[in-house]
Amino acid sequence: MSCNCTGKNIDLAPLMDILTPYKQNPKGALIPVLQHAQDVYGYLPQAVLEVIASELNIPVAEVFGVVTFYAQFHLTPRGKNIIRICQGTACHVRGAKTILEAVCSHLGVKAGETTPDLTFTIETVACLGACGLAPVMMINENTHGRLTPADIPGILDSYLD
Ligand code: FES
Repeated sequence: MSCNCTGKNIDLAPLMDILTPYKQNPKGALIPVLQHAQDVYGYLPQAVLEVIASELNIPVAEVFGVVTFYAQFHLTPRGKNIIRICQGTACHVRGAKTILEAVCSHLGVKAGETTPDLTFTIETVACLGACGLAPVMMINENTHGRLTPADIPGILDSYLD
């Protein structure tokens, strides 16, 4: 079973496997199903949300409401590497804005966006809990601290295959 609703062929077979155990008792199933589906697809395509709504007998609008409420869910594809650039107070006073600008300029996309090749997604956060290393960014699980704009190209390039 597949769907071309978002312009991209999405294989819905894994989704049907995810849904199978919940069909008899859909109560409380929505969040775990969404989490599992996002693990499989990397994000939550519209076609996937429509199938989830129909199989769990929940209005599509309600499913969209849950997805847009929780920051953990994503409606668009995300990059292989997630860059989180701190814009909290400690980092702000130590030049976080220049770090964000250097990352955006190097990758050619803005905060909140993903590079067209799906290599990087840029996000901003309020504090990464490493204020002593300000300004800080995390790439995946790695913390990069005491950054200067000149550090950015080398760090980003080290994540390329
Ligand atoms: S303010 Fe940036 S790590 Fe805390």
